[in-house]
Amino acid sequence: MNKGMWLLCICALVAGCEQGNSEPKVNGRWYTQSQLDIGKKVYVENCISCHNENAHGTFSWRNPLPDGSYPPPPLNGTAHAWHHPLGVLKKVIDQGGVPMGGKMPGFGAKLNEKEELAVISYFQSFWPDEIYQAWITRGGLK
Ligand code: HEC
Repeated sequence: MNKGMWLLCICALVAGCEQGNSEPKVNGRWYTQSQLDIGKKVYVENCISCHNENAHGTFSWRNPLPDGSYPPPPLNGTAHAWHHPLGVLKKVIDQGGVPMGGKMPGFGAKLNEKEELAVISYFQSFWPDEIYQAWITRGGLK
C-alpha cells in the first residue's frame, strides 16, 4: 500500500467513526439517514428489478411458478422478511435463495457488509412501526 492509500484509509476510518457517533438514528430505529441513502442506491441498482418499487414485491408472490420456485416476495413488511433477524437477512442477500431451492442470486461477491446492512435498512424503512416492533421483540437485532 502506498502513502496515498494509507491516507485514504485513515480518512475513511475517521469519517466512519464520526458518523457513527454523531448521526442520530431514524425514528428510533437501528439505522441512520446515511445508511438509508446508501441503501436506496444499492436497492435501485440491484434489487428493484425483482422486488419492485418501495419493496412491494410481486403481486402473486404466494403462488409458485411452474418450476416450483416462488416470485420475488415483498420486503415491505407484508410478507415474511420481518420473521428473520438481521443476520439471516444479511445471509439471504449474501448467498441468495439458491441454497434453499430458490432463485434469488447471491450478492456476496458484489456488495460489502456495509452495503448489505444499508439495503436492509432501506427496505425496513417501509415497515410500519408495529411490524418493526414485532421484529425487535422477536430478537431482530440479535
Ligand atoms: C432476480 C430476482 C431477484 C433479485 C435481483 C433480488 N431478489 Fe431477493 N428474492 C427473489 C426471490 C425469487 C426470492 C424468494 C426466495 C428465492 O426464490 O430465492 C427473494 C427473497 C428475498 C429475501 C427473503 C424474503 C423473505 O420473506 O424471507 C430477501 C430479504 C431479499 N430477497 C432481499 C433482496 C435484496 C436486498 C436484493 C438486492 C440486493 C434482492 N433481494 C435482489 C428475487 C430477487
